[in-house]
Amino acid sequence: MDQQKLNQLLSEMSLEEKIGQLVQLPGYFQNGGTITGPAGDPGLTQEDLRLAGSYLSVIGAEKIRTLQEEYMAAHPHHIPLIFMDDIINGYRTVFPVPLAQGCTFNPDLVQQGASVAAKEAAASGVHVTFSPMADLVRDARWGRVMESTGEDAYLNGLMAAAMVRGYQGDLKEKGTIAACLKHFAGYGAPDGGRDYNSVELSPRTLKEDYLPAYKAAIDAGVAMVMTSFNTLDRVPSTANKWLMRDVLRDEMGFDGALISDWGAVGELVPHGVAADFAQAAQLAIEAGVDMDMVSPSYAKHLKTLVEEGKVDEKLIDESCMRMLELKNKLGLFENPFRDASKKEEDALLLCDEHRKVAQDCAEKSFVLLKNDNALLPLRSEEKVAFIGPFVDNKFLCGSWAIFSDDQDTITLKAALEQQEGTSPISFAPGSRVMDKDGIVLGFQKAIPEETLDEEAALQEAVEMAKKADKVVLALGEHREFSGEASSRGTLTLPHCQQRLLDEVAKVNQNITVVLFCGRPMDLRKVQNKAKAILVAWFPGTEGGPALARTLYGHCVPQGKLSMAFPWSVSQLPMHYNEFSTGRPFTGDYRTARFGSKYQDMPKYPLYPFGFGLSYTTISCSPVTLNKAVLKKGDAITAAVTVKNTGHCTGTETVQLYIRDVVGSVARPVRELKGFRQVTLRPGEEKEVLFEITEDMLRFWDIHMNYVSEPGEFHLFIGSDSTTDNKAAFTLEA
Ligand code: GLC
Repeated sequence: MDQQKLNQLLSEMSLEEKIGQLVQLPGYFQNGGTITGPAGDPGLTQEDLRLAGSYLSVIGAEKIRTLQEEYMAAHPHHIPLIFMDDIINGYRTVFPVPLAQGCTFNPDLVQQGASVAAKEAAASGVHVTFSPMADLVRDARWGRVMESTGEDAYLNGLMAAAMVRGYQGDLKEKGTIAACLKHFAGYGAPDGGRDYNSVELSPRTLKEDYLPAYKAAIDAGVAMVMTSFNTLDRVPSTANKWLMRDVLRDEMGFDGALISDWGAVGELVPHGVAADFAQAAQLAIEAGVDMDMVSPSYAKHLKTLVEEGKVDEKLIDESCMRMLELKNKLGLFENPFRDASKKEEDALLLCDEHRKVAQDCAEKSFVLLKNDNALLPLRSEEKVAFIGPFVDNKFLCGSWAIFSDDQDTITLKAALEQQEGTSPISFAPGSRVMDKDGIVLGFQKAIPEETLDEEAALQEAVEMAKKADKVVLALGEHREFSGEASSRGTLTLPHCQQRLLDEVAKVNQNITVVLFCGRPMDLRKVQNKAKAILVAWFPGTEGGPALARTLYGHCVPQGKLSMAFPWSVSQLPMHYNEFSTGRPFTGDYRTARFGSKYQDMPKYPLYPFGFGLSYTTISCSPVTLNKAVLKKGDAITAAVTVKNTGHCTGTETVQLYIRDVVGSVARPVRELKGFRQVTLRPGEEKEVLFEITEDMLRFWDIHMNYVSEPGEFHLFIGSDSTTDNKAAFTLEA
């Protein structure tokens, strides 16, 4: 439909109809769908249902087609519904959680995964996904780090843009869905790491660290943006005119639809900035929030607010037009069913091709943190005991895998039993996932009761470990312990699992821990008992086969941490691109007093951002620069030669960091500015080049201008964020 027809349609719509286009209801109102927020009866009527323009979490092509038909027949102007869902890491074929996908340092692979998810979701009738989540995260206590791609804005921006391209294509092709960027803005920095809590960021930190990844998604053409639950400078995002109109739309150039998060318009009341839902509706519509997700505010109060002259009907028209334009961009006026097809659904969901992409992504997301004495890969002649509550566990998809069936997931045990060339292996659960007194509150799916006899299981495991050459302990966090509303005050393993590790370590020292988790954990009491640690995150449907192949060396770990593993939860929040401070401290905390450090623990993480080992070893030559002075409009070429000095082919992610030594404001000690992935056979070496240009050096200066400043810069190239492989150059005035 062309713009003129859209304008014509808008002019013919009643006020009630226009407001209806600004209301999104949950699928369970239509006997379908799952609940992804505080559910309850928002007091809506059948009339509200008749006019509401969108549903979230309706599942399945047939249900969506039926609902669309009924709705359009009843609607005065037969305007199609738009269906939205949380497709965070895959639809029916589940990919690794986004934090794991960040560890691939491979935007093309992440784009491929998003494209697979879009194909499956589109066939199931979905029009929009509430992804990418581009929130910068620096605090592993926050459960939603699982949904982010990590602690670096540059990496997050590449990943968010890749997801937008993967989901949307150009939105005209079959098998594409619109993407919704979230959560705008700064949701990843809640005080205390506690979900939904207040966020306090200076305007400069917001613009320097938190907005760039959102900007990358907007520049990639993301169709929609979602407001965040948090306050920023004590103003809830959903009522924040400055943030939504001045920053998001005017400065960042976003002109698409803006939806609230679940119930966030109504939550302006408990935030204490609105006395009631009517005032909440007024604040939100004035801030430019186009759609009210699952709160009664818009449906019940906007009409009266307009009739009383408190809200200008132009605001309703503006928001209604943006929702109509989104539906039009999806072609829904011409084809309200878009790709919904049971036949396509049956053919596409979980197809082998999609499973292969998911397995490849899982393999590239694993991070090898430790591998003393080359304990891994396992060898076919070794007797290996696979022990732990995740050995035969199907809950490997993370807490947002709404549309998957856990029965689809291949466990590590099943994969090992199917894999050729494994060694004599044995299996035992060894412990529960959760301590008996542990509380796990469900989110999406029921949590099966654990009925293991702990003492017998522990005894069995210890006896099995005694007879084995090596032990692989599959341990980790319950899948409901990360994700939304899943903040934790501790990051350690449950006691029952730690006990299992401790007891097994008494009889067998050749231990590999495979860690299943949705966040960095405190591994101090793991790394001193395990010779090898492989982080599997929540690897998705194909996690088992991917792990089995990796453990036996059929593929080689190449993941790099997208978020550091802290030494202790007490250090949080932390980030590698910190500031020097007036008393920088880099030594042993026990040897000196005056410095920015702790008296009782190191200041650095146990495993830093960008870190990850391989089964081979890769050396990196000193950095060389083709010139020492950079002029604006020119470029410096930095070069290193990387060499495979080990015994198997491996892939290294060579990382480029830059430090602005003196600025008009304090500058980070280093920032990721680029990376290259190089695959090398044993003995092979390759030159890796990086181009450094002036635009890479820009930042928000003392006057809040986005500029570079002349002076000295240090450049680091290596295999993680702690590399001291350094060169210096000068930016000319
Ligand atoms: C949730 C989440 C958001 C999700 C939305 C719809 O509360 O905060 O990420 O997209 O509601 O389920």
